[in-house]
Amino acid sequence: MSPFLKPATAIAAFALIVACGGSSTDAATPAASTETPVDTAVAAPAPAATPVVTPAAAPAPGEPSPEFAALPAPYNTADYARGKRTFKLCQSCHLTAEGAGNLVGPNLHGMFGREAGSVEGFAYSDALEEADFVWEPVHLDEWLTNPRAFLPGNRMSFAGVRKPEDRLGLIAYLMVETGYTSPPAE
Ligand code: HEC
Repeated sequence: MSPFLKPATAIAAFALIVACGGSSTDAATPAASTETPVDTAVAAPAPAATPVVTPAAAPAPGEPSPEFAALPAPYNTADYARGKRTFKLCQSCHLTAEGAGNLVGPNLHGMFGREAGSVEGFAYSDALEEADFVWEPVHLDEWLTNPRAFLPGNRMSFAGVRKPEDRLGLIAYLMVETGYTSPPAE
């Protein structure tokens, strides 16, 4: 619209380039001359600060994750970070928050203890629609080991999660994220 806008923008852009150019030459100057080749072999100083800084939330290897402490065995022994990481394989197709809706796959909130293939408004395959079982952690372990073999004809295009420890972490993570409540004791 206005013919005056253009030169102004050009000047601003030029000023930016000059500013950037200037600062990068400055930054390059002091870097080179700090080596002390004589001492390097003698004593690599111990990183004294590390143990103090370690956050309390990160369990030592082999320690159970506090996020899973309330889950039934063996899920209370699973690794939270591993579970969260493994869920990245699912999150393009599944949401876990209540009421968050469906993506390519159905919302997983409240899935444990629910009839398979029963999320309202999701167009399941016949295989899942007609499946007659209630999702428990053990079923999910089988489903994720080999989705195709567990329920032939289902439409979840996903190869599976090969490592048992990844499945354990993922299932525990899903229990926490989807609001799992343990069945009442009898
Ligand atoms: C490419 C998309 C996609 C990915 C990735 C995917 N799913 Fe699915 N998932 C689906 C679809 C589609 C269905 C419905 C399948 C059908 O109707 O046969 C489904 C169904 C399910 C169901 C059954 C839900 C119900 O209501 O009965 C579970 C449980 C499930 N997926 C878990 C997972 C988990 C856990 C992962 C990650 C390891 C995963 N899915 C990865 C698309 C996906």
